[in-house]
Amino acid sequence: MAIAARETAGIWVEGLSFARSPERLILSDCSLAVPQGEFWMLLGDNGSGKSTLLQLLAGLLTPTAGTVLLRQPVGFVFQNPDRQLVMPTVGADVAFGLAELGLSSSQTRSRVRQALAEVNLLDLERRPIYALSGGQKQRVAIAGAIATDCEVLLLDEPTALLDPDSQRDLVERVRRLVNDRGITALWVTHRLGELDYCDGAFLIEGGQVADSGNPQRLRAKLMAATP
Ligand SMILES: Nc1ncnc2c1ncn2[C@@H]1O[C@H](COP(=O)(O)OP(=O)(O)OP(=O)(O)O)[C@@H](O)[C@H]1O
Ligand SMILES: [Mg+2]
Repeated sequence: MAIAARETAGIWVEGLSFARSPERLILSDCSLAVPQGEFWMLLGDNGSGKSTLLQLLAGLLTPTAGTVLLRQPVGFVFQNPDRQLVMPTVGADVAFGLAELGLSSSQTRSRVRQALAEVNLLDLERRPIYALSGGQKQRVAIAGAIATDCEVLLLDEPTALLDPDSQRDLVERVRRLVNDRGITALWVTHRLGELDYCDGAFLIEGGQVADSGNPQRLRAKLMAATP
């Protein structure tokens, strides 16, 4: 299948390999591209290397070989928000990610409020993090990313710990952010129903991008493969 041109991609990966040790190759010669402003998903069995790929994209791991190009800044949302949210309150956590940008306090405040409004959390700005639901925590994590004006948003199974209503709310919200802000998003999931919301998907198998393209075609293929 045709890969988006490097110049118009929000995420562009070529020949990416990653080994934990010489005998333990996790990803081997992966190439993929997500067109700028599109929402793509990443599928694959447990242990197939999806989280590893996202960490390579985010620069949290260094590839053994290959090239990774992403529009900056990049936001990352983990499966478990308790690993990500570091400040005592909602507003302070979103502001924390802006600390290095050299903004004035009024600029910081306006960015925080704008980002919280976009995830419908403005009313909870002063709420302690411990008093949030799982879905609210994931929305704080997303607000933290969009407050930095991120160009790319990487999400590793962000709905894994959520109930069905919160799952749907989160995927619809990211769809809207991609449309409204022109963000490029890559979302890891095992939930085939979420494919309804994306523009395309990649399937990781055997350390490689085994298939990619139309999400409904991939969904049908995976459903047919499930006994
Ligand atoms: N820190 C680590 N040290 C050693 N091996 C690791 C580490 N993290 C992951 N691995 C191994 O790398 C392989 C890919 O793991 P990864 O977490 O990327 O899979 P995944 O596709 O995200 O799986 P899941 O769907 O269960 O989240 C697995 O074999 C895993 O055991
Ligand atoms: Mg994973």
